[in-house]
Amino acid sequence: MEYTVENYAKKAREAAAEGVVLLKNDNAVLPLSKGEKVALFGRSQFNYYKSGTGSGGLVNTSYVTGVREALLERKEVILNEELNALYEEWLKDHPFDHGQGWASEPWFQEEMPITEEIAAKASETSDTAIVLIGRSAGEDHDNLAEEGSYLLTKAENEMIKNVCAAFERTVVLLNVGNIIDMSWVKAYNPSAVAYIWQGGQEGGNGAVDVVMGEVNPSGKLPDTIVNDINDIPSTEGFANPQRAVYAEDIYVGYRYFETFAPQAVAYPFGFGLSYTCFEIKNVGFEQEAAEGADGKAAGEDVDTANMPGSILISVEVTNTGDRAGKEVVQLYASAPQGKLGKPAKVLVGFVKTALLAPGESEVIMKRINPYDFASYDDGGLTGNKSCYVLEAGEYGFFAGSDVRSAQPAGSIVLEKDVVLEQLTEAMAPEEGFDVLVPECKEGVFSPAKRPAVTRSVNYTKRVEEELPQPLEITGDKGIRLSDVADGDHTMEEFIAQLSPEDLASLTRGEGMCSPKVTPGIAGAIGGLTENLKNFGLPAAGVSDGPSGIRMDCGTKAFAMPNGTLLASTFNADLCTELYEWAGAELRKNKIDSLLGPGMNIHRSPLNGRNFEYFSEDPYLTGKMAAAQLEGMHKYNVTGTIKHFCCNNQETNRHGVEAVVSERALREIYLKGFEIAVKEAGAYSVMTSYNPVNGHWTASNYELIETILRKEWGFDGIVMTDWWAKGNFDGEKRGELANTAAKVQAGNDLFMVNADASDQNCDNTMAAFAEGKIIIGQLQRNAMNICGYLMRTPAFDRMLHGDSELDEDLKSMVFEGGEVIAKELTWYVNETDTIEDSELACERDDINLITVVTKTRGMYGLKITCRASEGTGDLAQLPLTVFKDNEMIASISITGADKEWKTFTFNEISPFYMNTSYLKLYFAQGGMEVKDVKLTLLMDLEEKIKAAMSAMGN
Ligand code: BGC
Repeated sequence: MEYTVENYAKKAREAAAEGVVLLKNDNAVLPLSKGEKVALFGRSQFNYYKSGTGSGGLVNTSYVTGVREALLERKEVILNEELNALYEEWLKDHPFDHGQGWASEPWFQEEMPITEEIAAKASETSDTAIVLIGRSAGEDHDNLAEEGSYLLTKAENEMIKNVCAAFERTVVLLNVGNIIDMSWVKAYNPSAVAYIWQGGQEGGNGAVDVVMGEVNPSGKLPDTIVNDINDIPSTEGFANPQRAVYAEDIYVGYRYFETFAPQAVAYPFGFGLSYTCFEIKNVGFEQEAAEGADGKAAGEDVDTANMPGSILISVEVTNTGDRAGKEVVQLYASAPQGKLGKPAKVLVGFVKTALLAPGESEVIMKRINPYDFASYDDGGLTGNKSCYVLEAGEYGFFAGSDVRSAQPAGSIVLEKDVVLEQLTEAMAPEEGFDVLVPECKEGVFSPAKRPAVTRSVNYTKRVEEELPQPLEITGDKGIRLSDVADGDHTMEEFIAQLSPEDLASLTRGEGMCSPKVTPGIAGAIGGLTENLKNFGLPAAGVSDGPSGIRMDCGTKAFAMPNGTLLASTFNADLCTELYEWAGAELRKNKIDSLLGPGMNIHRSPLNGRNFEYFSEDPYLTGKMAAAQLEGMHKYNVTGTIKHFCCNNQETNRHGVEAVVSERALREIYLKGFEIAVKEAGAYSVMTSYNPVNGHWTASNYELIETILRKEWGFDGIVMTDWWAKGNFDGEKRGELANTAAKVQAGNDLFMVNADASDQNCDNTMAAFAEGKIIIGQLQRNAMNICGYLMRTPAFDRMLHGDSELDEDLKSMVFEGGEVIAKELTWYVNETDTIEDSELACERDDINLITVVTKTRGMYGLKITCRASEGTGDLAQLPLTVFKDNEMIASISITGADKEWKTFTFNEISPFYMNTSYLKLYFAQGGMEVKDVKLTLLMDLEEKIKAAMSAMGN
């Protein structure tokens, strides 16, 4: 393997191209021909969205190739220069609006008005128009069913309308993170329309590979597109800051539309065109013997002999057109309505073919596990409460290239109900509400309601009955974590040595940007205090994710195609190959876990973070996440699957309560996570911010212990989302500082703290003293964390130094990546100075200073410098200063400045975090720095604390 960024980029480009979903291509307007004259419309040609914004998008890249750059680079089409000049002139007065503050760029940018005249003029010299529509989105804000978000703006509408009127050949490319309204397609009838999504730094290249026909599109919709957003059941009540009632229950996305409202669909789930045609022929259908069914029977009416085996479906795919291409075979299952009610179809398998030449065929065989078409009986309607069941009746199987057109492939009949797995009630709603169920009359389903099954288990009693056995504290016996790894001592013997304070410290992750791990990353866990380090715990680093590594100090990394795009590839192998690169890159940067993939279900196209997530379908979500994890696991690093669970709305994400049935949780919202845990061995999970059915997920025992660990056999760490709240059973308010509730629930790590040794930063020790949590719980969590640490490269490096692989990975050099001459950590009290001897001041030297401030607030910066002896008077000596990757000043002195000169900067952005970065870049040699001084001007500590605790309320 050659670790070059070029090879990495090739894989990302392949994925970006495979994710393009072509919805319309009249008169084969695409692919474009070489030499075609093209007019490029839409301002986002100048600001290609490599991703949305927020933690999932802030990757510092050395380049981003958008559609325009890719077209220019390839020189295969002739771009309309006059139109380009018009845009460039207009952009001078309409620069990109970055918004105010962190990740707060608007979700759309003002569009240059394209009048009929401009469009007509452009059509005089160009044959084909490409119109680009761009959208951002991200944390804390949802999309709105309004112009500039889900809907096109007036200017965008005008643009498409006028361009379509002027050109016979118009191609609209959607550089967006989630589905947007598509009613304009019918209104203006462009020749071609494609979702190119947000494709990372190679996104433009991938999209243009498709536009130019080098790659034949094979992407498929991971979400249903409807004519009217109000037809999506979750639209009503979406963004209510207090409660999100999941009344549509399991009928999310196509499960709803295929069952109740097929006519409301504009483009069905799984749909996507190719430049060629395929025939999908069923060539085999067989049911295997039941051997291997791992469930056990329960209930009275169960016929264990009837336990179904897996279904084997074979289809032959033939390329019947005249271009090579790939097709996605999608397999769906239908189940009898029975007593529970079922969606018309559910996805149970998908396979992408190889690249098939015209006339070539491939036979695909896929095994379908009955568990994938079973239903969870939360209330015991079938007589099997808390079981996965297959109700008696006929099960149909369908194969095709989207949910709507999939054709019958065979069926099986179950004479009696079959129980696949007996589980235990968990996370059921406390309050009653109605859920959607199908009512069938003469073969037609109409929506009806049924009261959701409410909880019957006492939460506190369950926690108490399952208290972990405490280990007697032994004090330091000299056992180190490496002794456990070597098998010389048990984990229990090791953990028994730790004091309650050490155990509490261990539950505290540090961040953002802890100086104890790779600069600029989101979190550190493990050996963060002197004591814990002495026990031989490494400090492991975790970084955002999902679409590339975020390092806030400016280190360059690779920006990946986003989750929705990757889901659209329906190519799990490709996803694995791409995330092998992510694994290598994590290793290179000495990071142990990526904070991703994001796995929340696209319950609504309005969720602001959909771009980070995969799909409306849990099976596709789970398989894609598993594929990514498998890739990263090859490098012995992992992904932290997030946000567990129901982070389906950004509005008041810390407080909005998801009210949802246990059945919908298990079949839809938890299913993807379950697949990632069971199939890919996920060993790091991040809970979400929100409460579900009365319990904040960060402190939800039933979510973390009952379901994740006990039922799914998860063996890894669980961490909170950054500054997530928690509550004890019965408490109506979630609190940030209620870390004890999180400890009780088995959430191993509270992320994040300024200092893990600070015993007063949360309520853990106080709650322990009061007996609200016990030592056994702290020890259980500590064992999870240490088990995880033993698997990390950080542990290996601590014991054995850099490996051969670490050496090899050094060859992956990012263009424009900075070579840091000096890296230092600066602990700042109210005022502090660093002297010149600590800095590297030669030509091209970069000093990366991790600034750890005791007090968060406004600081003034003073730099005192002069020209060194022997520097010619005419020399210009610049020093550029960055804070957290933002330039705050460029100082320049001349060679004649031989006396000390002090430069003062009092208006630098506040130090909101305890850790920030200063970067000093000396473009020339010859400058001497006497000192760099930071002085606290305004203490914002109280204000920041108040703002943090109010967060989400
Ligand atoms: C996000 C997480 C992210 C974390 C660390 C939070 O705001 O919700 O997805 O991993 O920050 O940056």
